[in-house]
Amino acid sequence: QENKKQPDTDKIADLKKDYKDKTGKPLTTNQGLKVNDTNNSLKSGERGATLLEDFLLREKITNFDHERIPERVVHARGSGAHGHFELYKSMDKYSKAGLFTDTNRKTSVFVRFSTVAGSKGSGDLARDVRGFAVKFYNPEGTWDLVGNNMPIFFIQDAIKFPDLIHSVKPEPHREIPQAASAHDTFYDFVSLSTETLHNHIWVMSDRGIPRSFRMMEGFGIHTYRLINEAGKSHFVKFHWKPLLGVHSVTWDEAVKINGADSDFHRRDLWDAIDAGHFPEWELGFQIVPEEDEHKYDFDLLDPTKLIPEEMVPVIKVGKMTLNRNPENFFAETEQVAFLPGHIVPGIDFSNDPLLQGRLFSYRDTQLSRLGSPNFHQIPINRPIVETHNNERDAHMQTSIPKGKTAYFPNSIGGGCPHLSKISEGAFHTHEERIDAKKIRTRSESFSDHYSQPALFYRSLADWEKDHIAGAYTFELGKCTYPHIQERMLYHINQIDETLAKKVAEGLGLKIPKKIDQPVNQAIGADADVEKH
Ligand code: HEM
Repeated sequence: QENKKQPDTDKIADLKKDYKDKTGKPLTTNQGLKVNDTNNSLKSGERGATLLEDFLLREKITNFDHERIPERVVHARGSGAHGHFELYKSMDKYSKAGLFTDTNRKTSVFVRFSTVAGSKGSGDLARDVRGFAVKFYNPEGTWDLVGNNMPIFFIQDAIKFPDLIHSVKPEPHREIPQAASAHDTFYDFVSLSTETLHNHIWVMSDRGIPRSFRMMEGFGIHTYRLINEAGKSHFVKFHWKPLLGVHSVTWDEAVKINGADSDFHRRDLWDAIDAGHFPEWELGFQIVPEEDEHKYDFDLLDPTKLIPEEMVPVIKVGKMTLNRNPENFFAETEQVAFLPGHIVPGIDFSNDPLLQGRLFSYRDTQLSRLGSPNFHQIPINRPIVETHNNERDAHMQTSIPKGKTAYFPNSIGGGCPHLSKISEGAFHTHEERIDAKKIRTRSESFSDHYSQPALFYRSLADWEKDHIAGAYTFELGKCTYPHIQERMLYHINQIDETLAKKVAEGLGLKIPKKIDQPVNQAIGADADVEKH
């Protein structure tokens, strides 16, 4: 197989310590006892009942009974691949991170692509956002860039995430529909929370039904910070650009492909890598100097807004190649745990309220998904550098920490010996001056929910616009509540009148001139709805 000929990255070398090859080996129990019969249980006589004594039967059945772990609460269906990232030229002007300064480095990566709404066994060609999560295994620690294939998100604040996801997942009473869109509940939520409209129109576009994971862009979405050696910060948006270009299928094709092969994207990625057609993406930075933070008519901290590339061009900084399929789906693709909070010196967070909530949510969910705070010891999650601290015990502790103490500070010895200075590579949070009232509202421009969806729509070719009109008509046609359909038509009309007209015609409905529901539920009951 072509992919096995690829040189081992640092992470593959690390994973190889845990590879288990059972080819040609004698069957044993988990205690190493050789087994002479795995087909017949122990019975009292030829026709007798099975004996409780049968430890072989019990071990085999017990393991089977516990094979399943909870699927991810979102992004449950995914496909992963290994590879590496190489830098074109040092970006030390902006960041001191090793992966952005050392052009001799081949940084190991593991990437997981996913759909968002469907369960683990759902079809690949659903109209949905796609996850694009990259784990960079650095000598300074692991950095996760957990993004999507669209540059914006549905909501502006993490506190709304459970509501968004409850509206898009199957209805609670009958677990229907499984499809990512075509929901009464989802359109109810979208039409009441107009901040969702920008991401939503991207999903209605051809971007919602990619041709292949290999042909999708990726985006970090949030504004992050890059920090250079001198401690200077620049804002940054991260972009992945596929060298194969961006391609989609039509809805008609998607429906047929899903019917004929619901593993189509998974198979496509696996087969391409297996055949040596390694997919590649260029990583890009959109850099905004700190002094330009308030230069735009949107807030850089608003994840429902993008920075148009005409305003701030994307600088290509390096290339990622995926060249090896996982050895085992469960051990690697299922157990991998991404977290936006996995960071290295040279990169830092912004105060985007969506990002801030994500920093809590991922580790929290992984505690229940993977069962123990020791999930960082699972081979795919293990950093390529040794880790040392005073955390101890818990379920599934698989290392054997030595010494008689586990605390800091410590004058007996054996606990974690010392802290590091910044000059020795320690992480140091960027010092940002904050002098503010403790409030729940956000800056004014967070309430502009129509300008950027309109900008996106206007940027499309006529045939792409037709596809969007078709998608809205099809999806809203599945909605069984006329008041929700009308509310959606009202919002589409704010984005583009021609689009709304086409959809209204398709649905046989009139576009309402006004709607009585407050449109900006998103900003809270105390806010002045009128001024938005
Ligand atoms: C999982 C992206 C917002 C909670 C994921 C995954 C991706 C992703 C790509 C799948 C990771 C994998 O392949 O294992 C994003 C992006 C967001 C966003 C781009 C917005 C910019 C949020 C928010 C929350 C959240 C606001 C919660 C407050 C989760 C959870 C998982 C997840 C709980 C499952 C993680 C796991 O089980 O390992 N997200 N997400 N996400 N996301 Fe997000």
